[in-house]
Amino acid sequence: MTISEKEMVILSGTSNVALAEKIIDAFNEEKMRIALGGCKFTRFPDSEILVELACNVRGRDVFIIQSTSYPVNWNIMELLIMIDGIKRASGGRITAVIPYYGYARQDWKDRPRVPISARLVADMLTTAGANRVLTMDLHAEQIQGFFTIPVDNLTARPLFKVLFDELFRRMIEDSKEIRSMDDVVVVAPDVGRVKLTKRLANELGTDMAIVVKDRTSAHDVQTTGFIGDVKDKVVVMIDDIISTGGTIINAANVLKEEGGAKKIFVCCTHSVMVNSAIEKIEQSEIDMVLVTDTISPEEKTNWVFGDTERVIVGDVEPEKGERKIDQVLGEDRFKRSKKIKVISVAKLFKAAIESIHENKSVSALFYSNKIIDLVRSEVNALVDEML
Ligand code: R5P
Repeated sequence: MTISEKEMVILSGTSNVALAEKIIDAFNEEKMRIALGGCKFTRFPDSEILVELACNVRGRDVFIIQSTSYPVNWNIMELLIMIDGIKRASGGRITAVIPYYGYARQDWKDRPRVPISARLVADMLTTAGANRVLTMDLHAEQIQGFFTIPVDNLTARPLFKVLFDELFRRMIEDSKEIRSMDDVVVVAPDVGRVKLTKRLANELGTDMAIVVKDRTSAHDVQTTGFIGDVKDKVVVMIDDIISTGGTIINAANVLKEEGGAKKIFVCCTHSVMVNSAIEKIEQSEIDMVLVTDTISPEEKTNWVFGDTERVIVGDVEPEKGERKIDQVLGEDRFKRSKKIKVISVAKLFKAAIESIHENKSVSALFYSNKIIDLVRSEVNALVDEML
């Protein structure tokens, strides 16, 4: 079946238009005629949001791309309002494509009298009218169970695997710091990431180690030691989220100062990176951080449209007083960093959206070499930069 605009509509909220455009590019590279559907967003002076669809969605298979990253509550509300608008415009099946699912860290009652906000967000999405969710590296896999609709939870791990396979292959070939994969160890920055670390270590064919971490507040963590052998080894640390940077920076200190690690690479799916996280990483013991673009690279410190200003996304011509968001509106925050590299998840999301639309297996993507083929050229370019 050839996908055409007649059957599928892809829309984007304002949180990560750059990723949405890249997903569209990935369709078009394969000569599938897909454009980003037009949408108009108005923010009123009292901060209410109005979303107007500028394309026909009647009976179509609709995908909405929106990460619920900073400003989290705004982006969640925008997504809910888009779903409601599509439902009322007689859209067919609605899939909320949420590359980064905010509130995922509030997924259990770790003490009395606290909410389970990850569940609340799931309920709101379902009530608004979402029929499916497509997301990536949920902080806890069991969040899928908070939904009564199907959830496909992709993972960026295969991208990291392909990249580190290539990087270490070249390092071994050039006798640069390692002689074999015995000189590499994959490390979990806390016990929550042990399963993920074990999977990556198995895939790369290395040993693993675990850092012992205590979260003392939302802003601070304490790292008290580690289990395993990292002496004179190159470390690959894997995490789902970097927020303040405290977890990975403290872990890197312990691994280098107490463990004698030679080099520290970090890979992480969601670059929340609040406040001065980027600067702290620059000054840390970490040698390189690899993140994905589930969250826009855009600097959003002053992120509000002007009063009643209207912005448009997608395939619609701006009228008087409207501003089009094409790619990235603000500064690319990673330009401030020499250590942070970004690998795109666009091709993975494109392949998953296509599979969902055609009722094909999504998991099959992860059990084949398809991912390697999809990201080979981007990985090679990144490794060239890293060496
Ligand atoms: C925690 O369980 C997560 O997996 C991350 O390690 C954490 O959210 C990172 O936060 P921060 O960068 O503020 O230490």
